[in-house]
Amino acid sequence: MLQITRPRTVHSIVELRDIVRDWRRAGDLVAITPTMGGLHEGHLSLVRAARRRARRVIATIFVNPTQFGKGEDFEAYPRDDVRDAEMLAGAGCDLIYAPSVLEMYPEGFGTTISVDGITDEMCGGHRPGHFDGVTTVVCKLLNQAQPDYALFGEKDWQQLVTIRQMVRDLDMPIRIASSPTVREADGLAMSSRNRYLSREQRVIAAKLNKALFASADHIAHGVPLERVLGACRKALLSAGFDSIDYLDARDAHTLSPVDRFADGNESRLFVAARLGKTRLIDNVPIERTGMTE
Ligand code: PAJ
Repeated sequence: MLQITRPRTVHSIVELRDIVRDWRRAGDLVAITPTMGGLHEGHLSLVRAARRRARRVIATIFVNPTQFGKGEDFEAYPRDDVRDAEMLAGAGCDLIYAPSVLEMYPEGFGTTISVDGITDEMCGGHRPGHFDGVTTVVCKLLNQAQPDYALFGEKDWQQLVTIRQMVRDLDMPIRIASSPTVREADGLAMSSRNRYLSREQRVIAAKLNKALFASADHIAHGVPLERVLGACRKALLSAGFDSIDYLDARDAHTLSPVDRFADGNESRLFVAARLGKTRLIDNVPIERTGMTE
């Protein structure tokens, strides 16, 4: 029988640093994949991508209270250490770093890392303080582990570009790499929050990516943006979504709104929609290849 040993789990900064120091002494490159647990294939794809870049891979599991707003799902967020460790073992993770809230935010903690501008709208606009929580915890995780690489998923595109900017602005000597969104068979972007969905909601949820891909295709083929976005909104609401936080075409790097799709500019279509208590996000490229008009 094939035995996969579970990666070691440490809970303190001191233990983490000791292990990373030994790896560095041995000349190994180190990559980190920050997560909040409740792992799925999307997370594992990041671990595998990390593994392709570095000999040593750390996965962090920390449900970060500072990035959840009042009334959000911090308490309900899925926590399953044993299952997470088993999944990580199979994906080639060497070490799990799972600090406590007190290890990350000890008594007297008083610093916030805040990236301006790029966090103002979309998820930042609808979840005030969310990105400050994300950048603060990611900055701390990167400082604690001091890896060569850190990997983030393209599913959370605004998070990815925000972290890239933080690392650039603060001269952090870490390369940020990204991995494409991993989807279920029906195209729904994998998310720890998908498990909140009822059977009926799960059927509706699959329509989000379909509407998004179809809309991106129409935009790429020259259908006027406002018309496409209006039709997409209508389709989502009549499919059963309760509300749409945003549906926007944006420059992939600056996240500024785009209404003209010139060659050479990379644009994406972004959505956040609510289904009962669950908020789903997704984004897809607006690709001009294969244009027929
Ligand atoms: P979490 O939602 O657990 O996601 C951890 C990482 O997995 C993020 O980089 C996210 O973009 C990536 N990810 C999630 N779903 C994915 C999918 N379907 N395909 C590919 N990658 C996916 O994002 C966070 O945690 C937190 O904000 C964190 C960065 C850990 C800071 O607390």
